[in-house]
Amino acid sequence: MPLRMIAIANQKGGAGKTSTALNLGAALAELGAQVLLVDLDPQCALTASCNLDPYAVNRSTYSILTRDNVSVVSCVRNVARNLHILPGSVDLAAAEVMLTSAPNAPFRLRDAFARSRAPLDYVLFDTPPSLAILTVNALVAAQELLIPVQCQYLSMRGVRALLETVWLIHKNMNPRLDLLGVLATMYREHSDHSRQVVAELRHVFEDKVFEMLIPDDDAVAEAPASKKSVLAYQPNSEAASAFRQLAEVIHHER
Ligand SMILES: Nc1ncnc2c1ncn2[C@@H]1O[C@H](COP(=O)(O)OP(=O)(O)OP(=O)(O)O)[C@@H](O)[C@H]1O
Ligand SMILES: [Mg+2]
Repeated sequence: MPLRMIAIANQKGGAGKTSTALNLGAALAELGAQVLLVDLDPQCALTASCNLDPYAVNRSTYSILTRDNVSVVSCVRNVARNLHILPGSVDLAAAEVMLTSAPNAPFRLRDAFARSRAPLDYVLFDTPPSLAILTVNALVAAQELLIPVQCQYLSMRGVRALLETVWLIHKNMNPRLDLLGVLATMYREHSDHSRQVVAELRHVFEDKVFEMLIPDDDAVAEAPASKKSVLAYQPNSEAASAFRQLAEVIHHER
């Protein structure tokens, strides 16, 4: 199975990026794939959800982005069976500034992975709510883009700006970047409003919208407090089942 590198991005805050990285990653790991989560967000919510302290990790995505010759493998920590993380650290906030003057700034993550020999099936990049250099590094390193969109009014707006950035990166830096899909998150079954957002998404993105909708489910919000994915925290929840179905679809595609 060839390695698949998937950037999870949307510059809108609270779209469900980190929850998707954690829970899709856990679901792919359940299917037997070797999964690496990569935290590129200075908020480090993904790292914290994996029971690591972003104030204490000494080898992180920050090391990869700002220092030469730091290997991916040397930064990776095991989270659960088949599930690993390349953690973020709080100094990632500074990487944004440091990288501005660095040569090859957009390519540093891609190049670090190109040097890596880690035996992996999936790499999932969790990105911050911005289109700046940290997100650009993920979009340059990845082959696929997954865009979570919260089922809420105005959530769609930023997606156009995101796609313009993606198009520029595709054209200038990463011609193999492709849209894997748009994922509707925090869907409320009985809300007209949620239904309207999904209808609009399908109108614009057609079959690129995953059939599977991620339900609005308290279990997703609660799981990180117990340092678990929702699949481990509440295996029978609606959200756990949705992420399992999403993983099946992604895993059997291609
Ligand atoms: N399916 C869901 N059901 C209920 N709550 C959810 C769901 N998905 C995410 N949440 C909650 O919504 C908030 C935003 O989700 P998340 O952190 O995944 O978004 P994000 O896009 O990573 O945010 P940021 O842009 O700040 O990094 C979190 O508090 C999360 O626990
Ligand atoms: Mg996040």
